[in-house]
Amino acid sequence: MDTIMTVNHLKKNFKEASVLKGISFYIRQGEVLCILGPNGAGKSTTINILTAALRSDGGEILFKGTKISKILRSYKQSIGIVPQDISLYEELSAEQNLRFFASLYGLYGNRLNKAVEEALTFAGLNDRRRDKVKTFSGGMKRRLNIACAIAHHPDLVIMDEPTVGIDPQSRNHILSSIKKLQSQGMTVIYTTHYMEEVEAISSRIIIMDHGSILAEGTKESLKEEIENEKKYIIEVEEHGGIGHDEFFAVEGVRSVKIDGNVIEITSLKGIENLDRIISLLSDHGEKIRNITSEAASLEMVFLKLTGRKLRD
Ligand SMILES: Nc1ncnc2c1ncn2[C@@H]1O[C@H](COP(=O)(O)OP(=O)(O)OP(=O)(O)O)[C@@H](O)[C@H]1O
Ligand SMILES: [Mg+2]
Repeated sequence: MDTIMTVNHLKKNFKEASVLKGISFYIRQGEVLCILGPNGAGKSTTINILTAALRSDGGEILFKGTKISKILRSYKQSIGIVPQDISLYEELSAEQNLRFFASLYGLYGNRLNKAVEEALTFAGLNDRRRDKVKTFSGGMKRRLNIACAIAHHPDLVIMDEPTVGIDPQSRNHILSSIKKLQSQGMTVIYTTHYMEEVEAISSRIIIMDHGSILAEGTKESLKEEIENEKKYIIEVEEHGGIGHDEFFAVEGVRSVKIDGNVIEITSLKGIENLDRIISLLSDHGEKIRNITSEAASLEMVFLKLTGRKLRD
């Protein structure tokens, strides 16, 4: 896949506070790149610089190999922006908003009409097209806001937390519509607080905090990098005599926790020793009721990297 955008050593200060500390990353054509970070991490600052709404204090952004400062006009036509705060005209209808925003990108006549129709369908708002935005729910506004950003078929869509504070149905609609955009060849940069969203849509993830990038990779690679252990939770009918030492004697076992009839064992990954743990139990006449294994989650990765949960 070709690289559509390269960001080199991006810096931003607000007074003496260094809000972006020289971050570098890239985005490939056709990916959904999720930027994950807690409050104040610098996500919106990054997005605002990428969309050329805010000036950086250092570094450069290349779009298809050229500095965006040199191609600002065509660059702005090539992107779609979904800001963190909804920006729509409340007194205008859904259709009027779409016509307005799409025309800002130079669409007119039949192309404009077609773009507006497509965008209304995309947002699932055909039946509400003539209603004023002020009568819409939060979720409908979010959907319309996204539709306004993609009506002109940008190459790159940049979205800043587009699902905050909306109903689950609208969120699902938005997540599946992002997959749809991707299947149509669009590239998406998407910031979020929500792990489930990252799980659902990301091609690749950047984890940021305090103005720096802490990790980058696919959800699978991030989990692997962090978690080289596997956790088994074994529930037995009634736990009898097997002590911690006997479990530790099994190769690869790193920790053992026995709580009543539930035994939690963490073991190095790649050592297929579950068979031996099961044999040990059955040799002692213990009946296994249930075994589950807990895979590393993005939440665990995030906690390990940042020392905090996603939401403060
Ligand atoms: N215009 C500004 N003036 C001064 N400080 C700012 C300004 N904009 C952002 N900041 C500060 O920069 C830091 C990063 O803010 P930013 O909005 O980029 O974070 P974020 O990751 O988008 O957070 P959130 O999840 O809350 O949206 C924060 O400490 C914020 O207070
Ligand atoms: Mg933000």
